[in-house]
Amino acid sequence: MKKILVLNGPNINMLGIREPGVYGKGSYADLIAYIRQTAEELGVEVECKQSNLEGELVTFIQEAYGKFDGIVINPAAYTHYSVALLDALKAVKLPAIEVHISNVHQREEFRHHSVTAPACVGQVVGLGFMGYALALRYLAAQAK
Ligand code: DQA
Repeated sequence: MKKILVLNGPNINMLGIREPGVYGKGSYADLIAYIRQTAEELGVEVECKQSNLEGELVTFIQEAYGKFDGIVINPAAYTHYSVALLDALKAVKLPAIEVHISNVHQREEFRHHSVTAPACVGQVVGLGFMGYALALRYLAAQAK
């Protein structure tokens, strides 16, 4: 069975409380339940991790090497400036999909650029929680 790591960055644990007009009313727990349900339907194993710390996210990515077949990552604010996350994704060379719940392109200009996207196979932006499901579906469909 394929193993996919789902990583969420800073403030994603505040979903439901945090700017519901932008990110929706669903909580982080709701997101994880939805991801688990999707993984079950797709027949893949998922591990979900969240951190508010850049270095911890780097460590999670490094630890995925040799253990996971792919990564779904929402680097949150780190998307826009973390060279450390970019380097970690490049180092492990696992197929990664970047997900953003909101449509970053409709928001402030500083959110339009992703530092981490060049290390990812693709991006899903602005489709809410469903972005994670679509990313999982893509990774599940790849040959092992
Ligand atoms: C986000 C978009 C980022 O710009 C923001 O800093 C986040 C969440 C999203 O999922 O839409 O924290 O990654």
